[in-house]
Amino acid sequence: MRTSPPSNKLRDLSTQLRPADNKFPLAQGSFSDVYRGILTQDNVDAQVAVKVFRVSPDKQKNAVVFEHYRREVQAYELLHPNRLVAEVLGVATIRDKPALVMKWYKNGDIARYLHLHPHVSVRQLILDIVQGLKYLHSNYPPVVHGDVKPSNILVDDNGRAILCDFGSTHILDGTEFTAANLSRSCRFMAPELLPTVIDDDSPPPTPTSTSDMWSLGCTIAQLVTCKKPYHTRRFSSQVVLSIVNGLPPYTEADFINARNMNEVDQCQVLWGVVERCWEMAPVRRPAVDEFEF
Ligand SMILES: Nc1ncnc2c1ncn2[C@@H]1O[C@H](COP(=O)(O)OP(=O)(O)OP(=O)(O)O)[C@@H](O)[C@H]1O
Ligand SMILES: [Mg+2]
Repeated sequence: MRTSPPSNKLRDLSTQLRPADNKFPLAQGSFSDVYRGILTQDNVDAQVAVKVFRVSPDKQKNAVVFEHYRREVQAYELLHPNRLVAEVLGVATIRDKPALVMKWYKNGDIARYLHLHPHVSVRQLILDIVQGLKYLHSNYPPVVHGDVKPSNILVDDNGRAILCDFGSTHILDGTEFTAANLSRSCRFMAPELLPTVIDDDSPPPTPTSTSDMWSLGCTIAQLVTCKKPYHTRRFSSQVVLSIVNGLPPYTEADFINARNMNEVDQCQVLWGVVERCWEMAPVRRPAVDEFEF
């Protein structure tokens, strides 16, 4: 019988943490507020990011938030420290809320970074993201990210892209998938993840490596075009309808006419793979190692 490799248990750093300059979060996601903190280890102070999960008085919402926290801790404990994924130093409890203590990435997420540095080449950033996802999908056991999108990709101090936000992760190790209704970002979501039948008893669809490929295609296209998937549709309901009706999130013209790729030839090769990420049949989508450009 195959057994999982030993995990790196995250340490509780609560007693070594104090808030940094400012008491307001510097960034917010759907499930968490991210603060800057100071971590003292061996008498040395370091700036860190503290991702505090927003537990609420609503019990059902709490279950979803705790599930995100649990998945994220499990993923970081499984994945060995690596330059392709964000560095997590430990866990903490902040005002009774669970938190992750991470390295502070001053460049923030890739959407913000490209907004502030519009002239950087996106090619290396895309290659980094592809490498990161390849690492997850070829891990033992394989890891499905489940929520690939620009706000879940950080940029390190060397300007390299790294994956973060493992709250929707699914580890393909045969253990039961918890049927928590984890809301993912519908603009980046594969059609098979959108529940089309109204039936309260059925568990929500499970993300897979092929649904990650749909989201990877959308993420790459957003970086190249600076436009969101389905940018001509304003409302989520229009987006969902477009996805289930098989309309692709971008056209070839959106992609090829974008200014963000320096070389037109490279752009055309990349489009050829990206476009296949939006095949309605998951088996027809490319695997992550088919990205070469
Ligand atoms: N270590 C970090 N250093 C700097 N900024 C960070 C760090 N971690 C997260 N952020 C910022 O905080 C935002 C929210 O973080 P994250 O995506 O992990 O939270 P979430 O609540 O799980 O989000 P989502 O809405 O995607 O579910 C990121 O998009 C990024 O801008
Ligand atoms: Mg996020």
